[in-house]
Order: sequence, then C-alpha cells, then structure tokens
Amino acid sequence: MSTSNACTVSQSRASVVRLMVPSDANFMGNVFGGVILSEIDRVAFITANRHAKTLCVTASFDRVDFLAPVQVSDVVDFDATLTWVGRSSMEVWVQVRAEGLSGTPPHPVAQAYVTMVAVGSDGRPVPVPPLALETPEEHARFAAGRERMEARRRTRHAT
Ligand SMILES: CC(C)(COP(=O)(O)OP(=O)(O)OC[C@H]1O[C@@H](n2cnc3c(N)ncnc32)[C@H](O)[C@@H]1OP(=O)(O)O)[C@@H](O)C(=O)NCCC(=O)NCCS
Repeated sequence: MSTSNACTVSQSRASVVRLMVPSDANFMGNVFGGVILSEIDRVAFITANRHAKTLCVTASFDRVDFLAPVQVSDVVDFDATLTWVGRSSMEVWVQVRAEGLSGTPPHPVAQAYVTMVAVGSDGRPVPVPPLALETPEEHARFAAGRERMEARRRTRHAT
C-alpha cells in the first residue's frame, strides 16, 4: 500500500470518559475489572476503526495490569493511541486514569495493549493504511510495538 494514504497517530486517537456507577461495583464495592476491560476494548475499537476506516475485530489482549482500585463514583478516562501497524493488524495502547469526584487527582489505574485486525465483509483480514510517525516518541513506541508483535507471533506459533 502506498504511503499517500498514511494516517497519523493523532488522527485515530480516541478518548472515552465514564462515570462509574453502583451497577459497575464488585462485592468489595470497587469496580469490576471486567467493566474496565470492556471499555478498553471499546475505545481500542474506535481508534482502530478510525485508522482502518473499516470494521475491526479484537484479536488479542496483552497482559493487563490493574494498578489501583477504581471506586464507584470515580470518573475514568480511557485514552487509546496506535503504537504499531502491520498489514491488517494494529496495536492500540490504552491508558486508563481515574479521578475522584471529591477532588482526588487523576491517577493511572490500568493500561493494556490490544491488537485489532481490520476485516472485510467476509470477516477476512484486509490491509490498513500505514502509520505516519511524527515524533521521536511515536517512533520509539512503533519499534517497541513491533517487538511485542513478534513476541506474540512466536507465542502463537509455539502453541
Ligand atoms: C483476528 C482474525 C481476523 C485473524 O484471522 P486469521 O485467519 O488468523 O488471519 P491471519 O493469520 O492472516 O492474520 C491476520 C493478521 O492478524 C494478526 N493476528 C492473528 N491472530 C492474532 C492474535 N491472536 N494476536 C495478535 N495478532 C493476531 C496476524 O499477525 C496478522 O497481522 P498482519 O496482517 O498485520 O501481518 C481471526 O482470528 C478472527 O476473526 N478472530 C476472532 C475475532 C473476534 O471475533 N473478536 C471478538 C471476540 S468476541
């Protein structure tokens, strides 16, 4: 694919803000990890779709670390950026921060790398535009993303 249709990282970046409500709570009174995972998946989907301009499916979630509990009534921000793009697959980095309504400052509560694959109407992978890297940080993240992709591929083939 030519680079003329390349898209920048900022063009596909997506952010979703959600207020955590009592129906999100686990038995400890904090928020279920699954609620956070679901939002990570959704915001990663938006970013992948913005870049690919076609439907995308979740191929894999890397290890997800929950760094701190999320409380009911927290305002949680899910920020998704593309780090690496292959032929049909894309790695999306999602950073999750929570802030308390009572003024607790925003702090990281989770992060994840999600691989999304662009698919056609038959569900088969289709090519995506290249990623136009604009900053040294984006170049560094792209290189790290490629290494993670290669590690994933080795693990997949080994299993
Ligand atoms: C993701 C999917 C489309 C890949 O199809 P496939 O037949 O394995 O296609 P390929 O082997 O040609 O791989 C296509 C791309 O996906 C990547 N890929 C496939 N499986 C992957 C995985 N588990 N993790 C990360 N990347 C993966 C490949 O590396 C390849 O990347 P590239 O095109 O950038 O080189 C297919 O496995 C699928 O439909 N899975 C179900 C997705 C889904 O329903 N998700 C929602 C769950 S409810």
